[in-house]
Amino acid sequence: MKIAVLGTGYVGLSTGVCLSEIGHNVICIDTDEQKIKSLRQGISPIYEPGLENLLIQNAAAGRLLFTTSHREALNGAEIIIIAVGTPQMEDGGADLSYIVQAAKDIAANLVQSSVVVIKSTVPVGTNDFIKSIIEEHRNESVTFNMVSNPEFLRQGSAVMDTMQADRIIIGSENDEAAKKVQEMYRPLNVPFILTSIRSAEMIKYASNAFLATKISFINEVANLCGVVGADVKDVAKGMGKDKRIGEAFLQPGIGYGGSCFPKDVKALLHTANLNGVHFSLLKETVAINDFQQELLVTKAINRFGDLKGKKVAMLGLAFKPETDDMREAPSIKIARSLTKLGAEVVAYDPVAVDNAKNILGDTIRFASTVREAAVNADAVFIVTEWKEFRLLDLKTLMTTMRRPIVFDGRNCLEEDRIRACKKIEYYPIGRPAI
Ligand code: UGA
Repeated sequence: MKIAVLGTGYVGLSTGVCLSEIGHNVICIDTDEQKIKSLRQGISPIYEPGLENLLIQNAAAGRLLFTTSHREALNGAEIIIIAVGTPQMEDGGADLSYIVQAAKDIAANLVQSSVVVIKSTVPVGTNDFIKSIIEEHRNESVTFNMVSNPEFLRQGSAVMDTMQADRIIIGSENDEAAKKVQEMYRPLNVPFILTSIRSAEMIKYASNAFLATKISFINEVANLCGVVGADVKDVAKGMGKDKRIGEAFLQPGIGYGGSCFPKDVKALLHTANLNGVHFSLLKETVAINDFQQELLVTKAINRFGDLKGKKVAMLGLAFKPETDDMREAPSIKIARSLTKLGAEVVAYDPVAVDNAKNILGDTIRFASTVREAAVNADAVFIVTEWKEFRLLDLKTLMTTMRRPIVFDGRNCLEEDRIRACKKIEYYPIGRPAI
């Protein structure tokens, strides 16, 4: 099948690469010439395990092309996938300007009948709106049908999540179009859920909002555990073994971040408000997350009293491991709070330092190793659970720091290892301090 993908962000690029891997002829379009130039050279603009290798292999096999020309990409495309961003606006709603532009570009270059698939996360009703734009601007001799096909891949495991998805949602009002999209995904051997366009749009938001709520729930449980002397690790394990609850997304920490959960929860709240539905549970999800992102700073204030002049080594900047993405990363809020309180922050992350510099500038210092960050530090904050931090050489860390005090925002250090280093003072989330 010939497939055109609009947008080469996380979703567009991962989708394009994976569809070429299962044998389709894919052409990815982006208006950013520099990005297309790098992609043609086999360079992925994002850090995503496994993606670049597949990109190089499929491009070499001639199944994966990159262009800035909609005319070239849409010529002969049986399926056109829209995967451009829908960033958050100030009022919490989703900014649809990129997707509207994509619709106009499609309409202007549609030369044969196609299926237009919206993969971007869009508020309920957007597929209908985009359909009306394409209808208005297209050449009337060509026909098209819309399919809502939301994406559930996670950054850091985008390739695996695409190739081994739990389900593929296909929302359509046209059986032929739905069949065509099923045919495209058939080699993946993943269960399909066929539904209406509006239900498909809602499934995406409801899924992300539910997962975000699950995280806020376990974070509240963790905070309570910390006070009543229970251990959230055992509590989460005990809860998760109940199949109705499930073990995933019960990892407490310093709140969810990234380009999806914060934005999508607020967008769903916005939709609820616009429609007069009082979704108070989601409001609490957001409030708990805001509180949780400040938790390490609060714990440090409780320990030190005053943070003025204290040196904090911040380990991890990315919003989660295996990505260099800094969007809505808890590290940003933590770094800003610490510097506001007069602390000196030196941060290290295996891959996100360049992106972090664009956001935090010279308000904090950046180190190129854990050791460099920890020299003479009064405290270590573990902010992202990179494997490198899980395996930290604690004895060396202890001798490098001024005071061996660790605030572990991701509960990623093992209790036995900490106890073995008798002098470390250790503050996890929702578990007894050591
Ligand atoms: C999330 C969803 O998991 C994907 O299914 C969805 O496709 C994607 O958003 C999207 O809408 O594009 P992602 O943001 O890449 O994916 O990352 P997650 O692995 O879901 O983590 C999100 C945040 O939750 C991270 O900050 C992570 O640290 C936090 N988290 C996750 C926890 O604090 N505890 C957990 O148990 C799990």
